[in-house]
Order: sequence, then C-alpha cells, then structure tokens
Amino acid sequence: MFQKVKPYMQGYMHYTRKAAFCMVLGIIASVLPFFFVYQIIRPIVNGIMPEIPRAAFWCFLSLLCMILYAVLYVRGLEYSHISAYHTLKNIRAALQKKLEQQPLGTIQAYGNGRLKKVFTDDIEMIELLLAHAIPEGIANLCVPAVIIIAMFFVDWKLALLSLCGLPLGMLAMGMMMKAGLDKMDAYYKAGAVMNNTIIEYINGMEVVKVFNRDGESYERLVKDVDNYRDFTLDWYKVCWPWMALYLSILPCIALFTLPIGGYLVLRGFSTLQDLVLILCMSFSVGAPLLKAMSFAGKFPQLSYKIDELERLMDHAPLQQTADAFSGTDHSIRYEHVSFSYEESEVLHDISLNIGEGQMVALVGESGSGKSTLARLLVHFYDLDSGKISLGGQALTQMSVEALNNEISYVAQEQFLFNMSLYDNILIGKPDATREEVLQAATRAQCDEFLTRLPKGIDTMARDSGKMLSGGERQRIALARALLKNAPVIVLDEATAFIDPENEEKMNAAIAEVIRDKTVLVIAHRLHTITGADKICVLKEGRLEGEGTHEELLKTSVEYQKLWSAALKAADWTIRKEVRV
Ligand SMILES: Nc1ncnc2c1ncn2[C@@H]1O[C@H](COP(=O)(O)OP(=O)(O)OP(=O)(O)O)[C@@H](O)[C@H]1O
Ligand SMILES: [Mg+2]
Repeated sequence: MFQKVKPYMQGYMHYTRKAAFCMVLGIIASVLPFFFVYQIIRPIVNGIMPEIPRAAFWCFLSLLCMILYAVLYVRGLEYSHISAYHTLKNIRAALQKKLEQQPLGTIQAYGNGRLKKVFTDDIEMIELLLAHAIPEGIANLCVPAVIIIAMFFVDWKLALLSLCGLPLGMLAMGMMMKAGLDKMDAYYKAGAVMNNTIIEYINGMEVVKVFNRDGESYERLVKDVDNYRDFTLDWYKVCWPWMALYLSILPCIALFTLPIGGYLVLRGFSTLQDLVLILCMSFSVGAPLLKAMSFAGKFPQLSYKIDELERLMDHAPLQQTADAFSGTDHSIRYEHVSFSYEESEVLHDISLNIGEGQMVALVGESGSGKSTLARLLVHFYDLDSGKISLGGQALTQMSVEALNNEISYVAQEQFLFNMSLYDNILIGKPDATREEVLQAATRAQCDEFLTRLPKGIDTMARDSGKMLSGGERQRIALARALLKNAPVIVLDEATAFIDPENEEKMNAAIAEVIRDKTVLVIAHRLHTITGADKICVLKEGRLEGEGTHEELLKTSVEYQKLWSAALKAADWTIRKEVRV
C-alpha cells in the first residue's frame, strides 16, 4: 500500500521519517515507567521495604517520562500530518489531472457521487496510513519488539509464556480481515450508489417538485441509504466477533505468564524477581501492540480504497500526443467518422469538410447527432473509427491543450462556476485585463442584464449560474469565447424557443463571435443559417445531404421537412403575436 502512495510524497518523506523517530522516542518514554515501577517493587520481592526517597525518585522519573511521551508524540503527529496532508493534496491533483485526460464519456460513467466519494472520503482515508499507521505503527511495533527480545534474556521460559497469546490474537485478526474482505466489494459499491443517488436527488429537486415526485424519489433515496446501512452492518457483523476476540486476547499478555509462571517459580525453575520483571515488561508492551494492531484492522478497507483510486487513474486516457498545433490552416476534416457513447452507434460513417474561414451549419432533428459531432471536434471522446483533423493535423496527434487554444466551444447547456460573472468570462483568457473582459461582455450583449444585477459583472453566478436565464447564461459563454478569440468556433445553439427580443440580442452576440472565424454552428432556428457557406443535414446519425440553403431545398427531403417545419413555427409565432 505504501509503495502505491509513496510517489505522491515527494518532498515530504522526511517529515514521515521525523514523525516515526519522535514517536519511537515517545513510545520508549511511555514504556520506561514500567521498568521504574519494577525498581520500586524489586526490594519488596526480596523482603525489604523500599526506601521512600528512592521510590519517590523513580516516581518522579516516571512522571517525567510521561510528559516526554506526550510532547514527543504530539510533535510526531504534527510532522506526520504535514506529510499526510501534502500527500493528499498531491494525490487529489494527480487524480484531477488523470481525469482531465480521460474521455468525457468515461468520467460521466463514473457518476458524480462516486467521484465525490473518491475525491473526498477515500483519499482522506489515506491520512490514516500516512499520519498514523506508518509512523505510529512503526513506533508501536518496534519498541514492543525490542522489549520482547529483552524478555528472552531475562528468562526464556517466562518470555515464551508471555508470547503465547500473540499468535491467537493474530489469528483472530487475520480471520477478521478475511471475513471483512469478502463483504468489502458490496459494502463499497452500496456507498457509491448512495452517493450518486444523493447528488441526483439534490440536482433533480426542481423536477421532483414540479412533478410532485417528492415521495417517489425520496423513497429511492431512502432505499439506497437503507441498503448502505445493511451492507455496512453486514460487513461489521462478520468482523465484530473476530474483532472482539483479538481485542481481548492481545492485551492479555499476562494470561499465561501469571498462573504458569507462578508455578515455575514455586517449582524453582524461575525466580520470583524475574517473574515480576517479565510481568512489568509484558504490561508495558500491551498498549502499544494493541494500538499497532488497531491500524492493521483498517488495512483491508484502506487497501480497497487505494485500489479504487488506482482503477480511476488507470482508465485509458484520450488518444493525444504532447505536440503543439502545427496544422497548415484551420480547415476541418471529418473522414468516415463513426462513434458510439456506449454500445449503440450514434454517428455512422460521417465525412465532411469545413474550409478555413467558412461557416458550416449542422441541422437535423433532435437526437440526430449534431451535438455529438461538435463534441468530437473538441476531442471530448475518441472515435470508434475514422479521423478528424484540423489544418491537416489529426486531433489525436496534438495535445488537448493545443487543440483548445485553437477552438472555442460554446455548448448547448451552459455551466457557470460559482464565482463572479466577471471571473466566469475571464476563464476564456485568464491574463485578460478588466477592460478586455468588459468589452467582451458588451460585444456579447450582456450589458442589458448586467446593469440589472446588484453588483453588475461582479455578481456571483451562484450554483451553476442558476440565477441567470438560459439565454443570459449563453451570452456569458459567448463573451467567454469572444475573449478567448480562437480561430475556430464551435457553437451549439441553446434553444429553438427564444423570445424575439432575446433572439435579436443573441443573433447580434453570435455575429460578433463568429466574425472572421472558421465556424461550425448547430442551428435549431433554421432562418439564422440560411446564409451559411454550407449546411449539413443529419438524420439518425448519418449525413443526409449537404449544400447551400437553396441547393438543399431542391435535393434534401430531410431539409425540406425541417424548413417547412421552421416556416410553420414562424407562422405560428407571428399569429400568436398578432393575437396578443
Ligand atoms: N452522454 C451521452 N451518453 C449516451 N448517449 C448519448 C449521450 N449524449 C447523447 N446521446 C445520444 O446520442 C444521440 C445523439 O445525441 P445528440 O445530443 O448529439 O443529438 P442532437 O442532434 O444534438 O439533439 P438536440 O437537437 O436535441 O440537441 C441521441 O440518441 C442521444 O440519446
Ligand atoms: Mg444537441
């Protein structure tokens, strides 16, 4: 386990070493009083009353040792926690980096709850390994080990008696680990399912309320929470008997030493003095041994969680290289592209070209694969087959960062981070000046709603930008894209149903964003793209036709259908307005 975590400890290993050193000294200080007590008892064993000043001296030394133990142990914990929390930070950063490199589909398949659990709870448990199990475990094992060896020098028979309980305790602990391990998978999975359900329940609160599904979704939540409780109890139930056994056997080191040792003394095989000393030594190792073992009891869980972390990290990353963009221009080429999210293919053998500076529109029924085709261009996923290239360079032959520098992607659903709107726009170009950000906001037609907000552009976006309307959120996203000023724009229009006033603003913002760029736009409002250089019609994941608006009206049945539907919708809107 430690070997798996070690690479993330860079620069902080010496803190763990220092921690172990302090704790070893601390444990030595904690066991010494038992020897001092022996010094007080020794004269009594020989039938002499101990001298009071001498006894007081040993008592004083014992007190000193206890203080020393407390100081050294706290110091050790301080060092071990510095090392542990820096390592946890490194592990979280590494996981984030690995996830960033994985296809979006892989990440979505994990589920939010499971990811949250790994990022917070599971990684947090590694603190137990680094801050406690390793330094404390070493200290609590080493010192008893030395004392046990010393016992053999005092009297090997009595020493053996003291160790009799140890194998029994170990056996009980081994049984506990084995029993726990069998139930671990179900227990852990139930935890991940519960986390996913809780997050889904919170995110879907709006739908739950609107459709009066409080009871139903609450029932599902309760079922998963109950399930988790049952699996946890199942896990504990098989562990508890063994845990009770080892917890009672291990500290009872005097279990055999006292009766059998007494018999040996009576028969003259051992001396009373040695028996008393061995008993003192046995008592001194009980507590540290128990502490060391208590860490071992957590190892199966910890090991499972580290494996789970590794499983997340080891998923195949996106196919990419570390190369910079070296394409000749910004023309885009899809060659025989097929793609499936899970099992079923959603895009079939698509080939299409977008020349540098051209504006190409994708149209098609809902679910025909328009957004998917756009997402493939920003390399969210790897293809099943085929190739996509930018300026002649395959997307798989450059880094995702390099590709991102060339493309601005405005998605259909906008996500705003819980920071100010200003900072949300700044994501487009982190080194932009305030002037540039404000200008981008103006060009994206954000001023009208920004002036209505209490703190204007410095207002917090709140949870996923929920305080803004869909159209407003998309204009913030357009401002982001304007600020980024990448040569290629991929634009997934928010919605077909937008009121005329907002539509005008949105069109003005879009016109700003796509000026002089190579553009792939997904249009739900057909009349906005009639002037596009090329329109591609998708139907059930296949390219049904391509050409200009006029050409398609003659050649594509699907386009004719879409166009007449668009005309009907416009007619419907006008009639509605007249009625109003
Ligand atoms: N993350 C996903 N996982 C699995 N299947 C998906 C995912 N996203 C989309 N799909 C499926 O892929 C197909 C194409 O979806 P896509 O979002 O590309 O359609 P679209 O043309 O953009 O539709 P719309 O006009 O409604 O936005 C649909 O059948 C959809 O159910
Ligand atoms: Mg879509």
